[in-house]
Amino acid sequence: MNWLPRPADGQAWVAPSVLSADFSRLENDLSNMTAAGADFLHLDVMDGHFVPNISFGPFICSALRKLSDLPLDAHLMISRPDKYLEPFAKSGIDGLTIHVEAEADVPSTLKRIGELGMKRGISLNPGTDLGDILPYLDQVDLVLVMSVQPGFGGQKFNPVAVEKIAELARRREDEGLEYLINVDGGINDVTGPECREAGADILVSGSWLFGAEDRSARVDVLGGRVG
Ligand code: DX5
Ligand code: ZN
Repeated sequence: MNWLPRPADGQAWVAPSVLSADFSRLENDLSNMTAAGADFLHLDVMDGHFVPNISFGPFICSALRKLSDLPLDAHLMISRPDKYLEPFAKSGIDGLTIHVEAEADVPSTLKRIGELGMKRGISLNPGTDLGDILPYLDQVDLVLVMSVQPGFGGQKFNPVAVEKIAELARRREDEGLEYLINVDGGINDVTGPECREAGADILVSGSWLFGAEDRSARVDVLGGRVG
């Protein structure tokens, strides 16, 4: 199991979204991103039902495991995550994040993810009230706040995410909880630092990071590693 603790104050872990990588030269693209300082890899799994798009499943996750030693965190945008927990565990990934809007029973699915040796994540869409995930905060290792409607890379950041991040950070403090706060969608040099300052521990970025000439400079900007 590869995982990371909370980052240092003022910093964030950077998680490139593999969806934006060039799949015809994946090994190259991922080692380049690792050399640039990426901390996690974010794997977007889409079923064409929970979201309109189809991406990849456990089979590709196994291949990614062979290509990278970074912590691999899969974001399941699928209607029935409970049906696929074993194949994802076997693929060797480290974390599995389910959506609260999916059709699965949330507490038993989270419990099973933990029993299978993976970190447990819960995610919510921009239009979903934070109240919907509050009952599960003591059962997760990670909360993924969506700052775009899931389904596609390259969309515009929705600022509703910033308030949710700040509230999650407050609650974690007040209730002595340990989850990492992760944010996903439309993250760039403006929105990334905004989320980090609100309390995000992990910034997912797809098009902005993979589209860069100098990826290392962009990783540093998101991670808060430059003056
Ligand atoms: C959206 C995905 C995101 C997406 C992020 O459905 O969950 O992870 O790939 O890409 P950007 O950073 O381009 O918004
Ligand atoms: Zn994602």
